[in-house]
This record gives sequence, C-alpha cells and structure tokens, in this order.
Amino acid sequence: EWIEAIRETLLDWYDKNCRDLPWRKNKDPYRIWVSEIMLQQTRVDTVIPYYERFMSTFPTLESLAEADEEKVIKAWEGLGYYSRARNLHSAVKEVVEQYGGEVPQEPDSISRLKGVGPYTAGAILSIAFDRQVPAVDGNVLRVLSRLIASWEDISKNATRRKMEELDKMLIPEDRPGDFNQALMELGALVCTPLSPSCNTCPVRALCKARKQGVESELPIKAKG
Ligand code: ADE
Repeated sequence: EWIEAIRETLLDWYDKNCRDLPWRKNKDPYRIWVSEIMLQQTRVDTVIPYYERFMSTFPTLESLAEADEEKVIKAWEGLGYYSRARNLHSAVKEVVEQYGGEVPQEPDSISRLKGVGPYTAGAILSIAFDRQVPAVDGNVLRVLSRLIASWEDISKNATRRKMEELDKMLIPEDRPGDFNQALMELGALVCTPLSPSCNTCPVRALCKARKQGVESELPIKAKG
C-alpha cells in the first residue's frame, strides 16, 4: 500500500542518488552528532570543509571532551553561531562524565544533552543506532506536507508533532537512518522550496500535492 510504496521507492532512490558526504562514511555517533549540529544553521556545501577540519582536529569524542574551550571555538571558526560549539563541547564532556564516553541510545537521555533538540536526537538515534525515531527538520516538514497535501502551518508545534507521527509510521524497521536521510536528501535535491523537480521525483506518483497540482503552494508557513 501507500506506506510500503513510499518506503521502497525512497530507499531505492536513495541507494542510487545519495551524496557521498563525509559524515556518511560510517555510523560513529560522534561523527553524526557533529555533522547534525553543523547542519542546523549551515548548508551542506558550506559545512563539508569545516567538518573535515573539525574532525581532523578532534577525531574522537574523547579528544573533543578533553580540549580547551578556546581551541574548540578556534576549530569552529568561520561557521558562526558559536553557542553550537560551546553546547556541543559541554555535551560531549557530559557524555564522558555521565555515560563513560558512549553516546546514550535512549531518547530521553540523549535529549537532555545541551544543544540536542528533538530533531538532532532523532537524527543521531536513527542514523547512528538505527532506531525508529523521527528526525523532522525543515526539509522533511516540506516533503511530508507535500506528500500528504497538508495545509497545516508548519511553523506550529502541533504540525511538527503530526509530521513526526507520520515519519514514525513511515520509517522501516530495517533502515531507519537511511530512510530519514532519504527524506532529507529528497528535500535538498528534488522537493525544493521553489519549483520542485516533480518530473524527476521518485515518489511523484505517490504525492498527494502533485496529484492535486498544489505542490508549489505547499507547505504553508505563517511565521518565521
Ligand atoms: N541535513 C541535516 N542532516 C543531514 C544529513 N544527515 N544529510 C544531509 N543533509 C542533512
């Protein structure tokens, strides 16, 4: 049915089209974590060189935890929003102190770390640990709103929660991280904010906005 078709089509497309990004080399939760923090306010193309530099300076969670804050800020230089770096630094220190250096796999524990909101928690848990946890960022909100032709305001928390529920229903048991990244990838490469490339979209036949011809009108965003 629809859910199964979305899963299979998206994962198949992702296997053939996913970009070779440095944080996709392995499933080290620390590497995924750093990438997700950098990607919160910064575009993929911009992040890549900073990410490579940061990871050579601090290749492991322990090395970051042990570093002086000054050195951490220096390694973040150019990316901006330095509170991200300070929060990340204090959170990895907490992981060393409270969890013996292992990133916690429980949603409640990981969400308590500084700078780790519901999106980042879901991204780390699904990508690094293959847990069926939603990771709904702006791209995914747009993709899901179009797939089901939702006219609900994506700047509302209630809408985000509904989309997280929808994502959760869609995430396949065997490949949660790939599925969440496939949604992000579709939003970045195909289901773009302006003039989405529906003609090359793998799930165009399954998209309700497309069926109704309203893909350019969605999603609705009242504020911000
Ligand atoms: N944006 C946020 N997280 C991402 C990821 N893992 N891959 C690509 N784009 C992203």
